[in-house]
Amino acid sequence: MYTNKMKFTRARISIFLFIIVAIVSVLGIVISIDLFDPRPQKSNPKENALYLDMTQPIDARVADLLSYMTLEEKIGQMALVERNSLIEEKDISKYNLGALLSGAGSKPEENTGEGWAKMITSYKSEAKQSRLGIPLLYGVDAIHGHAHVPGATVFPHSIGLGATNDPELVKNVAKATAKEIAVTGANWSFSPNLDQPKDIRWGRVYEAFSDDSALVSKLGTAYIEGLQTPLEEKTKTFILATPKHYIGLGSMVWDTSLNKNFRIDQGVTKLSETLLRSDYLPPFREAVDAEALSVMVGLNTWGDTEMIRQEYLITDVLKNELKFKGFVVSDWYGVYEGRSNIFVATISAINAGVDMVMLPFDYVTFTRNMKWANRLGLIADERINEAVGRILYAKFAAGLFDEDGSVLLHLNNISDSHRELARQAVAQSLVLLKNDDALLPIKQNVRHIRVAGSSADNVGRQMGAWSIEWQGIDGNGVVGATSILNGIQEAVSPSTKVEYDRLGNFPEEGRKAEIGIAIVGEKPYAEGWGDNEYPTLEVEDLQAIKNLQATCDKVVLIVVSGRPLFIEPELDSVSALVVAWLPGSEGSGVADVLFGRQQFTGTLPLPWPVRPEQLPITSSGEASDGSNLLFKRGFGLNK
Ligand code: BGC
Repeated sequence: MYTNKMKFTRARISIFLFIIVAIVSVLGIVISIDLFDPRPQKSNPKENALYLDMTQPIDARVADLLSYMTLEEKIGQMALVERNSLIEEKDISKYNLGALLSGAGSKPEENTGEGWAKMITSYKSEAKQSRLGIPLLYGVDAIHGHAHVPGATVFPHSIGLGATNDPELVKNVAKATAKEIAVTGANWSFSPNLDQPKDIRWGRVYEAFSDDSALVSKLGTAYIEGLQTPLEEKTKTFILATPKHYIGLGSMVWDTSLNKNFRIDQGVTKLSETLLRSDYLPPFREAVDAEALSVMVGLNTWGDTEMIRQEYLITDVLKNELKFKGFVVSDWYGVYEGRSNIFVATISAINAGVDMVMLPFDYVTFTRNMKWANRLGLIADERINEAVGRILYAKFAAGLFDEDGSVLLHLNNISDSHRELARQAVAQSLVLLKNDDALLPIKQNVRHIRVAGSSADNVGRQMGAWSIEWQGIDGNGVVGATSILNGIQEAVSPSTKVEYDRLGNFPEEGRKAEIGIAIVGEKPYAEGWGDNEYPTLEVEDLQAIKNLQATCDKVVLIVVSGRPLFIEPELDSVSALVVAWLPGSEGSGVADVLFGRQQFTGTLPLPWPVRPEQLPITSSGEASDGSNLLFKRGFGLNK
């Protein structure tokens, strides 16, 4: 007869035995995963392996290379590692890493074009040391030129390019950007941005061309064609483009962000599938038709599921319906964002169709989790083969297997023509919103001009974020760049007196200057750090405008900002208003138009609201409460 005590002891023994059996089984799996790969591996490829033969079709080269690869080699290709998290450079070949990136602001110790080239070339040769020598992708956020590199040409942010409505210009900007990327040894850019911002309170408005699907499609396609143009006649190598962010970015609802620091960035896109398809899918369809080789999935949520886990949108729509042949890459920490169990998070994202995972912090755990998930049958061999096949396809198509590895040119040798192009882009991006008594263009021989405002002599503010640093910089001292004030000083006749004071503190007594130019705007910001409930002018700038009004006959207001600002009261008080967006390194482009060397041709790429209650803008470009906007999309004087 059992006593209760005996029963308890037996139960304890059973639990103990169960735990031992469980531990032994798990250990068995671990050992079999880590020490014994039961699958037969092919021997090393011969020197004349089919995949090395440039004359073979890409699909055949991919299939051949895949047939040599071990599970570890395949998983390595699926990793995109932020360079700061590399434990040692040898890990590139040890883990067979498929790609590295410089997250914004992540730079070599010697932060020059040459320093970048040395660093990336060294990473690329480490990848070549791996058994199969698969070339490395190196990705950068060259979203308005390769702007993190000192000395690079900084083009207007996309919203300014949207105002030009000129696909040929955008194509040339992308071509120039591609050359400057190649100079540093990188071969992949996380651009163009195909978001469509409907709410100007979002901190990423300026990264987009427009809120209008047709304009985004037109310019996005031009950008991809330009970026992916072969760099040289003799090889077919080109820089890979990455249309982003798939899909629905710009229609997140205010105050739905999953990130507690943000208000709308990383928020919830509340759109029906019909609207998602009619508004947001066309630019991606055209990007696929333009043969973009990678697409980045956004950090937003659709319905109650993060975009990164939307199998229907990623696999069924993008890959199967649109017939996208390249690979899908995740954004930053997106696969794991908000998830406590990163093993499960990896499985759901990969099974939804993500082919390459961006890993800002830890690639070792990723590779281990992938191996486990595969051996436990949670991620099928077929899914891994499909993902790696897509990545290899992109590498073959961009000519990476066939390039000779030499870095093209020295940055200084090409930058002059690129700066001319950027200056032209700035001129075309300006939008004239008010011009009483035809004050503009200003005559070059005007007697006296006074200039004020926080963005007048501040290259950092005019470049905006994603320049030198992720959040941008405040101030001058950027190699080769010209401020708007510099441009004005160069443009006027020798007899014109140009006075500058940031705050506009000029003497009120005596004769007034004929013209005051207030160059005002926003401090740089990136992503959710720029979410702003009421984007408007700073107190300091408002005062500068007042000071100019007291000391000049007429005032021209130039707004340097990444989005429309709430400025209705100031609009009434000035004679002319120009929007310059975030023009980049070539401030002279602004002066070219102010002084009539070029015409105003830019038009608003998105509607300009009066107040927050009008947001979000509807898909037809109207205020959501039906009231009148300050200016409609497409408005611009002197067209
Ligand atoms: C952004 C992407 C960018 C990536 C890599 C993310 O935070 O959302 O647009 O490409 O970082 O820097």
